[in-house]
Amino acid sequence: MDNLAKADWADPERVQSLAESYNRRYGVDFWSAFCDIIRNPHPDVVADFGCGPGLFLVDSVKKLGATAVYGFDESGEMLSQAEEFLLTVLPQNKIALQKTDFDDEQIELESSVINLAFSGYVIHEVKNPLKLLERVKRTLCPNGEYVLLDFISGKPEAFVQAMIEQGMDESQARARYPHMCKNSLDDLHDLLLEAGFEEVRHRKTHSFRGILSGVKRHGAD
Ligand SMILES: C[S@@+](CC[C@H](N)C(=O)[O-])C[C@H]1O[C@@H](n2cnc3c(N)ncnc32)[C@H](O)[C@@H]1O
Repeated sequence: MDNLAKADWADPERVQSLAESYNRRYGVDFWSAFCDIIRNPHPDVVADFGCGPGLFLVDSVKKLGATAVYGFDESGEMLSQAEEFLLTVLPQNKIALQKTDFDDEQIELESSVINLAFSGYVIHEVKNPLKLLERVKRTLCPNGEYVLLDFISGKPEAFVQAMIEQGMDESQARARYPHMCKNSLDDLHDLLLEAGFEEVRHRKTHSFRGILSGVKRHGAD
């Protein structure tokens, strides 16, 4: 049976459609909430966990001024697309892309090297989000931040309507809702706290999307 939380991200058409929908998914609402909750608006080193086609990393160079980026994803097809996009904004030696399945593999990255870690529309797809977030936290420098963007529960009709507008049929959208919108904003807030992030903030960017940030203070693991 299909995993209703997750699409086949190795499919080249999905890679393309995710890239094409980036500006809609990361529009004005996203950037305004992002700028509102972020503490350091100019992170030097950025990592995206579940980077897909890499366009948030491209924007972290163009909009935030990042000088080096790391992208992790289980889909080699996504990472190939990410590399192509990223080479338009950074030299090869400032780009590190790694094929990693967060459900089964360790993230190969030293501790305390990242200023801003991010994941967008990924956490609902991962089997053990707490384990992933604890690992993400170890990669952060002292005072480094993690930002999480994902679908949230509570507005099934708005979610279904939006999915229909994007071409999904209604029964699929209804079947996917409990899997893609499995967490409330409070659930995600608690998850960040449980993973050891401090000063956790959250905002709704839309009726069925939320963004959160947490910081790793000096000395924390
Ligand atoms: C909905 S896409 C979002 C991609 C990107 N963050 C964006 O917003 O454009 C989810 C991404 O997470 C990746 N992903 C899902 N589960 C994963 C896992 N267990 N390990 C690594 N990557 C995973 C998928 O391959 C896919 O690229």
